[in-house]
Amino acid sequence: MGITVATEQSPPKPNTKRLPGTSGVAVNDRFLRACRREPVDCTPIWLMRQAGRYMAEYRRLREKHTILEIIKTPDLAVEVTLQPINAFDLDAAIIFADILPPLEAMGLSLEFIRGEGPVIHNPLRVAADVAALSVPDPRESLNFTLEAIRLVQRELAGRVPLIGFSGAPFTLASYAIEGGATRSFVLTKSLMYNQPEVWHELMDKLATMVGDYLKAQAEAGAQVLQLFDSWAGALGPADYRRYVLPYSRRVIQTTRSSGVPIIHFGTGTSGMLETLKEVGGDVIGVDWRINLADAWRRLGDDVAIQGNLDPVALFAPLPELERHVADILSQADGRPGHIFNLGHGILPQTPVEHVAALVDMVHEQSQVAHDSQNVKRKT
Ligand code: CP3
Repeated sequence: MGITVATEQSPPKPNTKRLPGTSGVAVNDRFLRACRREPVDCTPIWLMRQAGRYMAEYRRLREKHTILEIIKTPDLAVEVTLQPINAFDLDAAIIFADILPPLEAMGLSLEFIRGEGPVIHNPLRVAADVAALSVPDPRESLNFTLEAIRLVQRELAGRVPLIGFSGAPFTLASYAIEGGATRSFVLTKSLMYNQPEVWHELMDKLATMVGDYLKAQAEAGAQVLQLFDSWAGALGPADYRRYVLPYSRRVIQTTRSSGVPIIHFGTGTSGMLETLKEVGGDVIGVDWRINLADAWRRLGDDVAIQGNLDPVALFAPLPELERHVADILSQADGRPGHIFNLGHGILPQTPVEHVAALVDMVHEQSQVAHDSQNVKRKT
């Protein structure tokens, strides 16, 4: 399955145009158009964690390097960022990095342990730990990712837009406090309820760090920013509003001056979509636990939505996968502000040929709905 950038042989698709001075390289802007809720020729698609272990190219590189080595070596980060772009007809690239290196830059000791996931060796447990956290300039402490963004943009030459990202303050706080993944969030919520002043000091530092980091990524060339609050759904709406919302909102306000669209993603958030909207992203990312038409009814038409295929649907036989795609597209109903994605990251065991098939299904199946919407708009 090759990428379908326009060449001398194939005329550009409607949402591709040639960049001045780049011989034959087409610009695919349907993802940027969808972020701005503008009409598109078909629904754009990219996949969270699209660079990763389900791809043989990635696994080969991981035999020689740890994930942190790849992230901190811009040439390797560029190579991995481009692997899925070269393999599939995706409409956006996402810079290869992780949400946790900013915690390392702030003074925590981070390690990815095979089979276990990320571990913080010195998690935050008492007020003095939070007081000791620094808020360094991301242009120095995380320059490897900024450099990778600059290099990827040179390689992409406008083929598809590039997404920069950061973890949101709450999701980062949960790793910093728990020291790794958690089901109950008992340490995180205990700190929040028992020492609210310490919690607010931590969230304040994280919001400053994350806001600066996202802004620096936009300055380096990221055209869209995604804020991953993967675990926001662990909180009820009232706690989210009191302990999290002001900080995520501040992050988004900080990045506003860079003028790039912001995607605000969380899982398990169907119980508090209206509250999430107050945070202020241009696009809201939702998981598969909600019907997209319901999500739009609650969010209103002035926001774009990203989602929401269950990542496990990629393990289904192709006709079943096709039904899932048709359902999601019919819920989106040709609205210009839909970005197709999974409801959470792609799983390492995912059959790679189903990923290729999914991307093509979304493009092909969605054309009809967009054609008829575009005709309606003109008449
Ligand atoms: O989307 C992309 O392709 C860009 C790269 C990216 C990675 N992590 C690479 C990665 C992105 C956007 C992330 C985000 C991330 N990282 C999140 C938020 C999204 C989500 O899935 O909720 C979170 C919570 C993390 C933290 C993290 N990093 C965990 C829990 C793990 C281990 C779990 C696992 O899948 O093994 C990682 C490691 C990681 N980050 C891998 C990749 C490709 C796999 C590590 C490997 O190569 O061994």
